[in-house]
Amino acid sequence: MLEKLTQLRHHIEQSLRDATPEAIEAVRVGMLGKKGEITAVLKGLGQLEPQARKIAGQAANELRDWAQSQIDQAKAGAGAAKQAQALTEESIDITLPGRRRGMGRLHPITQVYGKLEELFLSLGFDIVEGPHIETVYHNFDALNTPESHPSRDESDTFYFDENYLLRCHTSPMQVRVIEKQKPPIRVVVPGKVFRRDEVDATHTPVFHQLEGLVIDKGVHMGDLRGIMELIAGHIFGPGAKIRLRPSFFPFTEPSAEVDITCYVCDGKASRPGSEANDPCRVCKDSGWVELWGCGMVHPQVLRTSGIDPGEYSGYAFGLGVDRITSALYGITDPRLYFENDVQFLRQF
Ligand code: DAH
Repeated sequence: MLEKLTQLRHHIEQSLRDATPEAIEAVRVGMLGKKGEITAVLKGLGQLEPQARKIAGQAANELRDWAQSQIDQAKAGAGAAKQAQALTEESIDITLPGRRRGMGRLHPITQVYGKLEELFLSLGFDIVEGPHIETVYHNFDALNTPESHPSRDESDTFYFDENYLLRCHTSPMQVRVIEKQKPPIRVVVPGKVFRRDEVDATHTPVFHQLEGLVIDKGVHMGDLRGIMELIAGHIFGPGAKIRLRPSFFPFTEPSAEVDITCYVCDGKASRPGSEANDPCRVCKDSGWVELWGCGMVHPQVLRTSGIDPGEYSGYAFGLGVDRITSALYGITDPRLYFENDVQFLRQF
């Protein structure tokens, strides 16, 4: 009996050496399982003489405990070996640095808004925003824009019904500010505006404006001109050349367009690099590009909103932020602002 136990011990030792988890489990079942060899020895003890049973029983129990602990140790060792092998074989290198996410940046239009707002804040203007959905009253009537004016036409403006529309300019905020605030007034209004324009090289149905309004005692056209030059100098640099060209807006009198020397042909009015002297498409061969409108606030606009034009006067302007951005960076197609092409946007 004791000899048999010694044999089993050798067999276990050999079988567990470098064994796979599956082989270890086979040893456990073969020795300690229900029909295992050590289990069989333990079961057979009852048939022995009391004296021999005592000695064999002690040895068999010792062997069982020893076998169990050998199997446990072998299992733990095999698990660790398997893990170590997996780590060397796996292709993921966890020590490599992570992949960097592309950093976003401000859209060029947002950057130009930022530059403009910086200037106006330094001049003591407030910045206010207005609703995209406007009343016909604020968008047109209170701005001295009669029924007969072409901008009121269905084909130019997005109407919801007869009273509400998508604002076609930021000028209605002039009225909303005057309704609420007594002069002196100094505000700028950034925001999106909407027109029923077909998309082409100079038009998009959504674009961006910055409205300005100043009302005080004794404000005159010279103040307006000075501010227009400050804006141009701040955006395009001190050498920027502008001109005020007489124009018409129903809510200003007199009115003017602010033009800047053409950023494509540099005011030379012929396409750069072209031997045939092709006409410049951006300035239509005039040498000037129209950037925004301005004027002295029409007395009727002041009166309608409760300000006495005998006491106060003011000027207003509506900057086309997309056009300013195009002029600043020499962009010839405003559609690029809306396409979210990262290659394009990354340049600014
Ligand atoms: N609202 C005009 C437009 O969208 C732009 C404009 C012109 C605004 C003259 C003004 C202004 O405040 O004085 O075409």
